[in-house]
Amino acid sequence: MHTVSERFMEKRTDNISRIDRLRADRTLPREQLRLLLTTLSEEEAAYLYKNADEVRKEHYGEDVFLRGLIEFTNYCRNDCLYCGIRRSNKNADRYRLTTEEILDCCDKGYVLGFRTFVLQGGEDLFFTDEKICGLVSEIKKRHPDCAVTLSIGERPRESYEAFFNAGADRYLLRHETINPVHYRQLHPEELTIENRVRCLRDLREIGFQVGCGMMVGSPFQTVDYLMDDLYFMAEFRPHMIGIGPFIPHGDTPFHDRESGTLQDTLHLLSVIRLMNPRVLLPATTALGTIHPLGREMGIQAGANVVMPNLSPTGVRDKYMLYDGKICTGDEAAECRRCMELRMEKIGYHVVAARGDSKV
Ligand code: 5AD
Ligand code: FES
Repeated sequence: MHTVSERFMEKRTDNISRIDRLRADRTLPREQLRLLLTTLSEEEAAYLYKNADEVRKEHYGEDVFLRGLIEFTNYCRNDCLYCGIRRSNKNADRYRLTTEEILDCCDKGYVLGFRTFVLQGGEDLFFTDEKICGLVSEIKKRHPDCAVTLSIGERPRESYEAFFNAGADRYLLRHETINPVHYRQLHPEELTIENRVRCLRDLREIGFQVGCGMMVGSPFQTVDYLMDDLYFMAEFRPHMIGIGPFIPHGDTPFHDRESGTLQDTLHLLSVIRLMNPRVLLPATTALGTIHPLGREMGIQAGANVVMPNLSPTGVRDKYMLYDGKICTGDEAAECRRCMELRMEKIGYHVVAARGDSKV
């Protein structure tokens, strides 16, 4: 018979060896991964973060890459149940930036040291392939040493080819959940995980650096679904992985759901780093929203990217995917400076580099 504290020691030792094994093999058998995700003590979590941090440092040192996020339209034809800019949210105050405004964000961002611009928007067909291509090629003409990332949802393969030929380098498209049942619970019928994965595969074949990912603690999510996501990503080998806590938005069907937790998100960031040592992994705005030091803790748990907002302040509070989003009142320069200070404080350095994937 073991005493309670002996049993606790035994369990703790098991998790430490699971972390060592995960670092060495970059994977764990499903039941081991389940135990790791569900029985971590605080001390074990610290050991997990430390290992993830070391692995990140082996590949990227203490550099934190900056991406300038330009939220250029909050019109969206989709109706994802979790998202504040879903088409049936009649309270959303819709806007589109003009070409001039978008280019102006990039020019200002360039001066501030940004070398990647992320054009993110709802699925807004006002921005035709031609318009997007025109924007991309103008940004690349003005700033040839910069990377352009698109995050504008599902389009046909031909559109993605056109964007790539216009000079776009990267594409972010979170898969949201790989489980078809869960996907159905989060999205309206017209959206399918099959088409999402088709898009991701097309993007990669075309030559983009591709990012996928999911929310942590989204409604109906289970540990099994999360493990499916982890194994899917390890197999798909994306260049970038975006994860952040789910946060409810008051004007959506999920308005009364709980947010994802800081701890779960940090655990997953570390596990993702250990399973995908070279991946580009942001400490997201959503993480900074559920805790004032969320992004710092994300970096210390193995993340290596931050994405300050470059959108004009006049529209910031309109790109509300979830309630309470931070940094909606700050000028780009303030955000840049703030981020630099935040990272220096914990011993990391934001760098003015494109920060391409080493995957
Ligand atoms: N909480 C957290 N993240 C959200 N996203 C959308 N709505 C929410 C929410 N309520 C995430 C989705 C999407 C990305 C742009 O923002 O994962 O892919
Ligand atoms: Fe925007 Fe801190 S990152 S104010």
